[in-house]
Amino acid sequence: MNFHFGKDMLLTNGLNLLADRPADFWFPEQASTFAKEVDSFYYFILWLCIVFFALIVGGMVYFIFKYRERPGYKGSPEALHNNFLEISWTVIPTLIVIYVFVRGTFGYLEMASIPKNTIDIDVKAQKWAWSFKYDNQAESPVLYLPVGEKIKLTMRSDDVIHSLFVPAFRAKADVVPGRYTPMWFQPTKTGTFDLFCTEYCGDKHSRMITKVEVLPLEEFNAWKAKAAQAPEGGPELGEWLYVRRCKSCHSNDGTKVVGPSFKGSWGKEVKLGKSDDGSKTVEFDQNYVRQSILYPQKKARDGYQSGTQMNSFEGQLNDDQIDGIIDYLKTLKD
Ligand code: CUA
Repeated sequence: MNFHFGKDMLLTNGLNLLADRPADFWFPEQASTFAKEVDSFYYFILWLCIVFFALIVGGMVYFIFKYRERPGYKGSPEALHNNFLEISWTVIPTLIVIYVFVRGTFGYLEMASIPKNTIDIDVKAQKWAWSFKYDNQAESPVLYLPVGEKIKLTMRSDDVIHSLFVPAFRAKADVVPGRYTPMWFQPTKTGTFDLFCTEYCGDKHSRMITKVEVLPLEEFNAWKAKAAQAPEGGPELGEWLYVRRCKSCHSNDGTKVVGPSFKGSWGKEVKLGKSDDGSKTVEFDQNYVRQSILYPQKKARDGYQSGTQMNSFEGQLNDDQIDGIIDYLKTLKD
């Protein structure tokens, strides 16, 4: 299917003068192939409304004044008929509405038809984080993209409905649990852009924000190759694992997400809300971290008694990897 012929034909009649602008009060900058058409169509409808509003309200006010009741004025009680007026105020709005419908349909079809030769990225949405996975198993909480390429996202949700929105791309689609939702776009400039969740998904919905980094193709490929490799060890390995395994529930900056933040915990005596041996506190040290990763139910921190939400990582993380996480947690002390 090819919708471009029709769309371009219609575009020549649109308000294309207004496209290709920098960010302004109404819109962020235009960073994808969708942006120009979305903006110029938006302005077309906006001006259409402004012009008709002015004509209709202006006419109303004028006639109210002109035919007001006043001494010596005699109005006619009969309704007049005017064929020219009747036909023009029926035909002109009908043509405008048909134009808006057809142009909108072409725009929708363009966004809904996934093209061939895309770079494919898997998206996982969950309360309250995004995760992007590439064909070489690189994984990132930030969406890295190459400029000028067609990108296809295959999105799924682990829990409730989320919605992925990149305003600079004018691209948005819901992420629905129990199915894969595709979407596509083609970034046209390098830079850092916002990515939001735009479907209310719980009390941290407004924190479900990340960035899109659009890079030149070679830089993107270099990033992707590097991101797929785990660092050898130490806090770098710990951070690499943290981003992939822990971050969606444990912040590293003190904010409360699902579980307690890792910030400033290391070396402290922390309060327990639930423990297998009746203890009320525990030192946040190597043994406690290891136990919490492998057997999260044994000792849950105060305020997180339902530590049962966390699954055991037994068999998923080996001792060297746990050492890396411990090294990383040490870097987060106050
Ligand atoms: Cu996810 Cu709102």
